[in-house]
Amino acid sequence: MHPASKPLLRALNGEAVWPPPIWLMRQAGRYLPEYRALREKLGGFLKLCTTPEAAAEVTIQPVRRFGMDGAILFSDILIVPWALGQPLRFAEGEGPVLEPLRDAPAIAGLRPELVAERAAPIYETVRRVRAGLAAEAPATTLIGFAGGAFTVACYMVEGHGSKEYAAPRMMAHGDPVLFARLIDTVVDATAEYLIAQAAAGAEALMIFDSWAGMLPPNQFRRWVIEPTRAIVAKVRARYPTIPLIGFPRLAGPMLVEYSERAGVRTVAMDTAMDPSWARNAVSPEITLQGNLDPLALLAGGPALESEARAILDAMRGRPFIFNLGHGILPPTPVDHVAALVRTVRES
Ligand code: CP3
Repeated sequence: MHPASKPLLRALNGEAVWPPPIWLMRQAGRYLPEYRALREKLGGFLKLCTTPEAAAEVTIQPVRRFGMDGAILFSDILIVPWALGQPLRFAEGEGPVLEPLRDAPAIAGLRPELVAERAAPIYETVRRVRAGLAAEAPATTLIGFAGGAFTVACYMVEGHGSKEYAAPRMMAHGDPVLFARLIDTVVDATAEYLIAQAAAGAEALMIFDSWAGMLPPNQFRRWVIEPTRAIVAKVRARYPTIPLIGFPRLAGPMLVEYSERAGVRTVAMDTAMDPSWARNAVSPEITLQGNLDPLALLAGGPALESEARAILDAMRGRPFIFNLGHGILPPTPVDHVAALVRTVRES
């Protein structure tokens, strides 16, 4: 299929495609038995991310099963800190654990010169997925991704997942020069990483800023909008027309300013966003993506049906991509996902 006729790419370029294209955040993952089997065989998540043949297979699994319009590269936002030399492990049942960066020497010790070599397996995965999709699913668009600089810096400073991220937020307020040095390092590494994904065959790129919504407006501008704008500018200098999706999770009304200033063409709405509000508040030049509650998908049945329809009704006639408002939950039954794809395709 000619790239210009892939439904997801058309929507990412501003066309009101209907029924809307659909893919789901975390569509490759633990709810799929074929994913769990491969992760088990490889002996862990990070090993899976850095083994191109396996990561490519896992990326394509949900496309094969459900006919998704998008295939999101199987990797993680914490590959960038790891590629910068920060030790990372994924502890079973505990999530990611990094050696926390709390002071100037630790931040100065990051090694941007390592990124090209350490991230090389990820780029090889992208090449393999692109070739695999061309053979198996020619209408599906390959999405590369990275974390937003703020969210990645949150993990780098805190060292693990947290409800508050007090250490990075204190650094942002208390020593903004130091925090800016970290953000700048992450911006540069992230731009390099996204550009290399595009060079390897990613057709669109998404920036996940999961913790953006914790910040007051002036901090949101400084640590979410400005760094995103800097990443986008660097990517655009090399790939002027590649579609970019931004996900400033829990941004609330700041979604509008983000959509106007961050430079991305598509903005992803989180679960808490009212799609009818966003439809009017965000320019029709911007494609919206989202935002079904992952719990509605887990529940299935009439709840799933009515929640999905409400979003479709709010978005009809506008450039839109159906997705969840956050990642798929591991206990989600696979037939709920199949039912959702049917509902969207029949809309
Ligand atoms: O299918 C896809 O969406 C592609 C792959 C992908 C993963 N993580 C795989 C993954 C993507 C796009 C991400 C992004 C990511 N990673 C984000 C941003 C989006 C969001 O969810 O807010 C964040 C914050 C992370 C950091 C991260 N990685 C956490 C907090 C965890 C542990 C939580 C969990 O679900 O276990 C991970 C691990 C992770 N990343 C898994 C997967 C499939 C689970 C690993 C496993 O198999 O045990």
